Amino acid sequence: MAWSLKTNLSPLEIFLEYGPSLVSLSFGDVSRGAPLAHEAGVLTAMQVDNAAELERAMDDDIDIIITRGSEGGGHGRNQAGTLPLLQLATQQQLKPVVAAGGVGTASGVAAVLAAGAQAAWVGTRFLSATQSLGHENVKQVVRASGMDDTTYTRAFDIAQQLAWPAQFRGRALRYEFSASHEDLSSWDATEELREKMVTARAEAAVDIAPVYAGQAVEFVTAPQSAQEIIAELAGFRQVLAAASRRFR
Ligand SMILES: Cc1cc2nc3c(=O)[nH]c(=O)nc-3n(C[C@H](O)[C@H](O)[C@H](O)COP(=O)(O)O)c2cc1C
Repeated sequence: MAWSLKTNLSPLEIFLEYGPSLVSLSFGDVSRGAPLAHEAGVLTAMQVDNAAELERAMDDDIDIIITRGSEGGGHGRNQAGTLPLLQLATQQQLKPVVAAGGVGTASGVAAVLAAGAQAAWVGTRFLSATQSLGHENVKQVVRASGMDDTTYTRAFDIAQQLAWPAQFRGRALRYEFSASHEDLSSWDATEELREKMVTARAEAAVDIAPVYAGQAVEFVTAPQSAQEIIAELAGFRQVLAAASRRFR
């Protein structure tokens, strides 16, 4: 969370002590975090949500670009779709590009690889994986939801009084709370509301607590292990072979 590193670098400093092979910086100004990670010899990735961030990612302290379209789950901007952002990034051909946002099937992986990405970065599709630490209530609603069921909202951050900057709302499932608090403003953030959210999260009451998920939630339909999901996504090879036969 690059915006939080602006005031406190210690989460990244502590992380670097573990000798990671990769650090991914997202959400905002990376000018403090990126040089620190890069100079420690760690591969440094930047998750970019728009053209301005993509331009920043061209600086020397970023090794890998993750283009993240607004279809994706969790926090981010709502400015660019996965494909336009990916096309802009791969035009430059200067650094490895990883594509994120809405990739949930073998065809999705094939599409971004065909567009020049080195890899796909997938989040939502793993939300109900057996290895995922999420509560079973969350996994159930994720499996039951489709691509029309997400919303892009700040309501959960306001209700929990989290310091997320306003330009980084989040894509989450639209349920009772997010649907009825679309216009929630910081002025409405009461202690009572915060406590209600804390309780809802502790109890995994998914009609109130946030369930962050992207449009690829459509493709989460059954309990699967991470290995099964990866094996399914690896079908991108067949998809690409079939496409190349079709257009020969
Ligand atoms: C529940 C959830 C939590 C996430 N948390 C983070 C996070 O802490 N940091 C981050 O950089 N990205 C986070 N992401 C975004 C992912 O890194 C990625 O951009 C996104 O999941 C890709 O799109 P997809 O969800 O359509 O696969 C999160 C995504 C989800 C669904």
